[in-house]
Amino acid sequence: MAKILVNSSGPLHGEVAISGAKNSVLPLLAATLLTEETCVIEDTPDLVDVAVMKKMLTNYGAQIDDSEQGIIKVSVPEIVSCEGDAELVQEMRASVFTMGPLLARAGKVIMPMPGGCTIGKRPIDLHLKGFRALGADVVEDLENERVIVTAGENGLNGDVIYLDFPSVGATENILMAATLANGTTIIENAAKEPEIIDLANLLNKMGARIKYAGTDMIRIEGVDRLTGCIHAVIPDRIETGTFMLAAAITRGDILVKNALPGHVRPIIAKLKECNVGVDVTPEGIYVDARDRELIATDIKTLPYPGFPTDIQSPFMAFLTTVKGRSIVRETVFENRFMHVVELNRMGADISTENREAIVPGGKKLKGAKVRATDLRAGAAMVLAGLVATGTTEVSEIHHIERGYEHFVNKFKGLGADIMKIEHD
Ligand code: EPZ
Repeated sequence: MAKILVNSSGPLHGEVAISGAKNSVLPLLAATLLTEETCVIEDTPDLVDVAVMKKMLTNYGAQIDDSEQGIIKVSVPEIVSCEGDAELVQEMRASVFTMGPLLARAGKVIMPMPGGCTIGKRPIDLHLKGFRALGADVVEDLENERVIVTAGENGLNGDVIYLDFPSVGATENILMAATLANGTTIIENAAKEPEIIDLANLLNKMGARIKYAGTDMIRIEGVDRLTGCIHAVIPDRIETGTFMLAAAITRGDILVKNALPGHVRPIIAKLKECNVGVDVTPEGIYVDARDRELIATDIKTLPYPGFPTDIQSPFMAFLTTVKGRSIVRETVFENRFMHVVELNRMGADISTENREAIVPGGKKLKGAKVRATDLRAGAAMVLAGLVATGTTEVSEIHHIERGYEHFVNKFKGLGADIMKIEHD
């Protein structure tokens, strides 16, 4: 079983370049199903989840050329299957992002129900509400744990869709389906994450007619067909926040390059509240926590532009080392405190009540054997290991490799005493 070993590493120093965003490249790749022409996606990160999405697309009929590092060329001359592979769906929830494009292009999609995961049930009711609003027939085949969605005989028809929660995935799925619908679709209470804007930009390059992506009301005028395009993935704002926190927790200084400050404003604001130095420079975001008296602060996760839920666990790891009590509120997922048990193995002494965690702070963490309970919690455990006495052994690191490109090497490049071991 592969593990990551982290030793107390002292202040990290140097610069790190951010890769393309996992949560953008996955819907972008799904959107290539909408045309028979070739789409060229650039600045793609080398991630396990990207490999899984490529397998999904190939099963549907895609021809993929990924011979050039960081570039994926996809053409889907025809859809040969509309059925998602159950094993791949279990491996990667983002497989459900292929539902909207398949429904729009081929008029049908059969998708195994994606399982929940450690952070929550992760239902897709809002995705299905959107498809129904576009005139599709949705059958939830509970016996076979799958959902069968079929467009009407004249395709999908635009409508006004209100999202009870600004779900990122539901917004993306409906956005993609609506591009080829008859007439106009309005998504109300839409998610406003940067990844939504990146997807809308790709779709508009393909000939879609999308307006106001990034606001809570997106308008899509359906068109008859979409063409190929060339599009570069935006940098990963969650990886950006993770390395900003690496400087903060180790009291070091790091220049985070190829990052978009506008996508990480809540993280910049919260680190400044803690008296961490953060400067936006032409070269990147410079984070300096050397020789500073840091101050505890509270965080509350919210849909964008609020504080990102994906940075909650890495930020909590940092707060355990800062003098003073902090309260961490998780409002997006119902079970995203699994990392508290792991941090407490290291002496963090955190208590939780429903969706609130009380972090006493000011702790000198001790190295321990801990688990990566989800992708971002895995990163949090590595951050904690950098400042804990002794060695921290992080297991179940397949989570981490799903979403962080060259994770161990990037930390080594900053002076971290870290290594990956393949087997015990
Ligand atoms: C995306 O997941 C991201 N994943 C998540 O990142 C991220 O945490 C999340 O958005 C929130 O920002 C990808 O983009 C691949 P949601 P998604 O639909 O789309 C509820 C990571 O670590 N909900 O916005 O699944 C849901 O249960 C991952 O990179 C419904 O109730 O998130 C959750 O409580 C983790 N019904 C809340 O909305 C639905 O139909 C937010 O979910 C859909 C969602």
